[in-house]
Amino acid sequence: MSYKIGIIGCGNVGISYAYSLINQALDVYEIVLIDINKERTQGQAQDLCHSIATSKSYIINIYYGDYSSVDDADILCITAGMPQGSAKTSRMEDITGANKIIDDIMKNINSTKFSGIILVASNPLDIMTYKIAKLYNNQYSKVIGSGTLLDSSRLIYELSSKLSFPIKSISGMVCGEHGDSQFVVWSSVKVAQNYSIDDYITQKEKLEIEEKVKHDGFSVAKLQGYTCFGIATALSRITRAIINDEKVEFPVSTYDKENDVYISSLSRIGKYGVEENKLYSFNKNEQELYDLSCRIIKEGINSINI
Ligand SMILES: NC(=O)c1ccc[n+]([C@@H]2O[C@H](COP(=O)([O-])OP(=O)(O)OC[C@H]3O[C@@H](n4cnc5c(N)ncnc54)[C@H](O)[C@@H]3O)[C@@H](O)[C@H]2O)c1
Repeated sequence: MSYKIGIIGCGNVGISYAYSLINQALDVYEIVLIDINKERTQGQAQDLCHSIATSKSYIINIYYGDYSSVDDADILCITAGMPQGSAKTSRMEDITGANKIIDDIMKNINSTKFSGIILVASNPLDIMTYKIAKLYNNQYSKVIGSGTLLDSSRLIYELSSKLSFPIKSISGMVCGEHGDSQFVVWSSVKVAQNYSIDDYITQKEKLEIEEKVKHDGFSVAKLQGYTCFGIATALSRITRAIINDEKVEFPVSTYDKENDVYISSLSRIGKYGVEENKLYSFNKNEQELYDLSCRIIKEGINSINI
């Protein structure tokens, strides 16, 4: 099956995701770009089309469209949101503005025949993903937030820098909220063929790394005004898992039925979306941090009466 992908919100994140898709040999035949800024998005579509011939991709067309063009799309990626800027200190600052944007987008999506999978990057991530799933007729397995996949990638990078080990020799994840209450799942972190991280760094160093990972996005945004490549690559990794039916496990934001929130736990992703979540057994301390994160996300959800 060849895929059609729609991207809603073609700012820094959305357009970087499109570019990341083009640079892979994925079974994608069409990308539709939707944004309230029609002229700029038309320009972006043309610019991206000019990269197809020299890329790895099998894409036939990339174009600016309205919502009628996503009736037959297989995946929609929602990356519309409030501008990131260099002065923010919490993703929760965007909640009121993002809430209105998502209302508009979901009204439009629900007026189409679209019935595929929705990926979400818009912040505050877990709250907006929850809202989207509720407005998408509670189809929880079809709605996935990028969650802490990006934070996990940042963790691996920070550990690699600290230890001077190759990035690919380190594994581990961040779970919980894609926000202030996220936590490193230290029991999952492995170095150089399965050695425990405890053999390499002290408790104090762990805390320093955890804080750095939490603030990495803001540090980049302070310098650049926004972040885009990390999130775009995380989104395209999830997309690849869906298209290739990889049934691979990622820390992404999925529906936790027991707590009635979207939150990142280890989830299995395949062609139907989320196949299973909460796959990792946290230790007692990690479970407490997860529960705290659930409560914080729930407060956010309640504050906008979803
Ligand atoms: N999940 C993550 O890890 C992660 C990482 C980086 C950024 N983000 C989030 O991604 C979102 C986008 O960030 P950005 O830097 O691309 O912002 P941006 O301002 O560059 O782009 C946002 C785009 O959304 C469009 N838009 C606004 N309202 C719309 C609507 N109703 N319908 C269609 N399009 C609409 C705007 O015209 C703009 O092009 C933000 O919420 C940001 O916080 C998430």
